[in-house]
Amino acid sequence: MPKPTLTTESGAPVADNQNSASAGVGGPLLLQDQHLLEKLARFNRERIPERVVHARGSGAHGHFEVTDDVTAFTRAAFLSQIGKRTDIFIRFSTVAGNLGAADAVRDPRGFALKFYTEEGNYDLVGNNTPVFFIKDPVKFPDFIHSQKRDPFTGIQEPDNVWDFWAHAPEATHQVTWLFGDRGIPASYRHMNGYGSHTYGWVNEAGEAFWVKYHFKTNQGIRCLSTEQAAELAGSDPDSHQRDLVQSIERGVKPSWTLYVQIMPVAEAADYRFNPFDLTKVWPHADYPLRRVGRLVLDRNPDNVFAEVEQSAFSPNNFVPGIGPSPDKMLQGRLFAYADAHRYRLGVNHTQLAVNAPKNPAANYGRDGFMATNAQGRHAKNYEPNSYDGPVQTDQPLAAALAVSGHTGTHPAPEHTKDDDFFQAGELYRLMSPEERSRLIANIAGSLSQVTRDDVIEANLAHFHAADPDYGKRLQAAVRELREN
Ligand code: HEM
Repeated sequence: MPKPTLTTESGAPVADNQNSASAGVGGPLLLQDQHLLEKLARFNRERIPERVVHARGSGAHGHFEVTDDVTAFTRAAFLSQIGKRTDIFIRFSTVAGNLGAADAVRDPRGFALKFYTEEGNYDLVGNNTPVFFIKDPVKFPDFIHSQKRDPFTGIQEPDNVWDFWAHAPEATHQVTWLFGDRGIPASYRHMNGYGSHTYGWVNEAGEAFWVKYHFKTNQGIRCLSTEQAAELAGSDPDSHQRDLVQSIERGVKPSWTLYVQIMPVAEAADYRFNPFDLTKVWPHADYPLRRVGRLVLDRNPDNVFAEVEQSAFSPNNFVPGIGPSPDKMLQGRLFAYADAHRYRLGVNHTQLAVNAPKNPAANYGRDGFMATNAQGRHAKNYEPNSYDGPVQTDQPLAAALAVSGHTGTHPAPEHTKDDDFFQAGELYRLMSPEERSRLIANIAGSLSQVTRDDVIEANLAHFHAADPDYGKRLQAAVRELREN
């Protein structure tokens, strides 16, 4: 087979890809060397803004298959039949590190899914943790600033990390989770995924339910100790990416089983926890797991930049039968992601292959940078029109939410068990004695690096409020490390 001809970007054959054109042998180079100019100019433009969080990640293609009937709870078409398969794309990530940061670190992991359903793309943008550090989106930029590089030193500072948490008692639950055994997954395959927020489902009859998603790994949970992770982060910074790409290339098909917890809408008001508080779980004894289906990954992206870097997931991409809840964090995210995509990828990011719906989008949005969707010469760019253009359905995607009261910057409504510490204590008490010891050592190792006593004290008070034994042991461990 003859090799294909190398061309410029406009398709003309390239005569020489080894030597630039010069004025005579040994002379300066010529401005007319289109191939050289184009090559250098394109190289300068290879990078786009990285994600402001979750910059470092890995992606894969696969499918979701329904195994159990959930039509009593949602009319989502992709969940409508046992055996039904829907193509998906997933992107896993760490949170705090920039592009190129090491994978084996103590950090939550992103678990962002795009279901290419026949009714449009459904994006479920979750983490490997069922809860989060804060419960109001107005705190998110401050929280992230405190966890990433300090603007002066340019490094992550334990002083900032723990100063934020000193002022955020609601983080105690997630901090306990993060410094426990599951805080450093061995790979993306060996961890669970959670929708984390509560979402709304509605069935054909219009009955509404609150739902939490749990993707349980079928590979089993595997984690790294702090010491193992420190070594791996140095010896193989790409450990998660390597594991995922190599396992799929070997023909291993990593899979997860999706379960949901379902709460009838009428039970939300009197539940002991605020069901829309992202710092809380719903104990399984209250709302058991129901199996829905199986998520399988079976194909690596052909090109990491085109498919993984340019993938764009937005919690605001719902399909009929699924909608948001009043969780304030979720509400904030409904804005933040598509806004980030317009900045990072441009207004036409939904036309990129990895983001485009499989059912073609049909609307009156037009133009902008890099528009490729011409829509044909008869398609009008206004509505209503007399030309049989696409029309609305008059069918809301999700159930309506009853509201009352006045506008204002209200704190979240309190339910009977809504203190910031109870569930953190429950998690601590659930751990084996060995895991508790590792948790204490992990937190103490980080907290003891803080330079201010008052910040340490404020944090210790939170752990003490979660469980006196937890607080007492941590206090002793931190003191010992600071004295040595
Ligand atoms: C108010 C709170 C939050 C805000 C404002 C926020 C904002 C953002 C932004 C701007 C990005 C970058 C998006 C992009 O450039 O494509 C991002 C990425 C991400 N966030 Fe959040 N986030 C919040 C909370 C959360 C929570 C609670 C979760 C999980 C339950 C989460 C999971 C993710 C994931 C998985 C990604 C990476 C998506 C990908 O792989 O492309 N975030 N977030």
